[in-house]
This record gives sequence, structure tokens and C-alpha cells, in this order.
Amino acid sequence: MVDPKTFLAEAVEKLRAEVPGRTIVAASGGIDSTAAALLAQQALGDRARAVFVDTGLLRAGEPERVAELFRASGLVYRPVEASERFLKALQGVRDPERKRKRIGAEFVHLFEEEAAEFGTDRLVQGTIAPDWIESGGALRDTIKTHHNVGGIPKTSRLKLVEPLRDLYKDEVRAIARELGIPEPGRQPFPGPGLAVRVHGAVDRDRLRRARVANAVVEQEVERAVAANEMRPPWQYFAVLLDARTVGVTGDNRVHGEAVSVRIVESVDAMTATAAAVPPAVLARIARRITRELPREVVRVLYDVTDKPPATIEWE
Ligand code: XMP
Repeated sequence: MVDPKTFLAEAVEKLRAEVPGRTIVAASGGIDSTAAALLAQQALGDRARAVFVDTGLLRAGEPERVAELFRASGLVYRPVEASERFLKALQGVRDPERKRKRIGAEFVHLFEEEAAEFGTDRLVQGTIAPDWIESGGALRDTIKTHHNVGGIPKTSRLKLVEPLRDLYKDEVRAIARELGIPEPGRQPFPGPGLAVRVHGAVDRDRLRRARVANAVVEQEVERAVAANEMRPPWQYFAVLLDARTVGVTGDNRVHGEAVSVRIVESVDAMTATAAAVPPAVLARIARRITRELPREVVRVLYDVTDKPPATIEWE
């Protein structure tokens, strides 16, 4: 475990050496990139510009939550609304790997434009150790292609700066606390957002369903934790499946979609176990999802698989 104070002092010096002029910072609102952005702001002042992109693939209330987090952390940033552009890039794409690549490519284009506009070729990213370890290198199996690490093509003029790349999640959390970032215990959320939690076609309607279902899972789990019914899990979310299934409302049989609920315990996301959630909590989740999405989602499943053999996300 690194000592946060020592780490920060050294990281500031390194950043000043690595960024002679200006840089932009990719700030998603996650703990890693928020820590990287604040670090860059401390080291470089207004020579660093944090950019927050609303991809249209975020959870319910996310842009507002991020705005509040940045305000409370004292981070100055530029918000960019880009949902149209990301949805267009995903049009007709069903394959999860292609989704990730399209999203990665769109991020690169967008950050290239932002960097050019700010007069730099540097991009600070909050990459941490598990990102590149799991993203696969010459000697590793490619488990993930998503982490932005592999995402910057050699032809791009962007030069990556990754001040947190040797840290593990618990170390980043300690650093975030030291930087004064509130609620550092927030659950991780994947860069490609709801695109990896919507199986099959991604469109505004299916994103809306995933968003509603996910909000129910978050609210019910957080309520159960507050009521001492269960321990706080590492991650808890909903996945909209690419399945048509039959339900019944009143006297009518209807074809709708299915949602899988994923709630896991983990320390560093490298391995995870499916949480033993009280049946009453799961029942509340199922009832609310089907009630809030009538005739659209007619079935709710609970994923009982550990990692390995499954991953935490579905896609
Ligand atoms: P998996 O699904 O590989 O996930 O067991 C391990 C951890 O990484 C997160 N994750 C992602 N994070 N981009 C990200 O930035 C992604 O594409 C992505 N896929 C998974 C996942 O939420 C979990 O915490």
C-alpha cells in the first residue's frame, strides 16, 4: 500500500515534468479519473482542463451527480453533451466487442477535438493497474479490449499521461480521500456505460429501460443496506437482456424483455462472488422493475455466478 501523501507529492512533480504545456483530462466522474483530474489541477492549475462527456449511456441522474461531485471536490471542468454522436456510432451494432470499439473510437475522436481546441496533444487518464493488467498485453490473454488503455490508436496524435497506472483500487480510494473527494466508496461504473448493460441493439428506448431497472436495483440495495438487511456490495446493477419472453398482465399474455440483476462482493474486481441477497430484497426489486416498466420488462432474473468463471459485467 502506497502512502497517499508521498505518492501525491511525487505524482505532482512527475506530472509537471511530463506536461510542459497544456493538457486535457478525461473526467468520467468515477473515482479514478476524478482523482487524476484533481491531481492534474493541483500540479498544473489552469494548464489542465478536465472534460466530462455525457455519452447518453449514463445512469439516471448521473450528469447531475457528477456535477455535484466535481463542485464538492473543487474540480473545474468542461461538460460536453455528446449523446447523439455516441448513439449514432452504436446504431445497428449488436456485438459487444464492436460496441466497445465504436465507443472507444468515438471517445478518441472527441478528445482529439477537445485537445486541439485547448492547444495540446496530451490527455491525462485515470488508468489504474487492473485496467491494463486485464486489458491484455503481449503476454496476457485479451480479457478486455474496452479499457481506454488499448483504445488510443498509434495514429492518434494524443499522448497519454497516466499518473495512477501503478495503483490498485483500494490505493486510489486512499488517494481520493487525501485529495478531499467526497464519497470515495461509490461503486465502479464501466467507461462504455450502459452500452455493456444493454444486450443487443442499443437505442434510446432500450437505454431508458436499462436506466429505470438499474435505478431500482440501486435504490433497493441501498435501502436494504441502510436498514441493515445486507452488507454494502461492491457492485449492483441491472442488465437488459436480448430476449423476448412471455408475461401476463390481467387477462393478456404479452411479450416483453427480461432483466438480469447482478450484485457482487469483491475486493479489487479481479475476482468476485455473487452476493447472498435476502430473498425479500430480490422480490422487491423484481416487483418494482416490472411495475415501473409495464409490458416492457416482464421477467427479472438473479445472476448467481461468481467471477471466474463469469465476469462482473455481462458483455
Ligand atoms: P469484469 O466485467 O471484467 O469487470 O469482471 C471488472 C470490473 O471492471 C469494470 N468494467 C469496466 N470498466 N470499462 C471500464 O471502465 C469497461 O468496459 C468495463 N467492463 C467492466 C466492471 O464494472 C468491474 O468493476
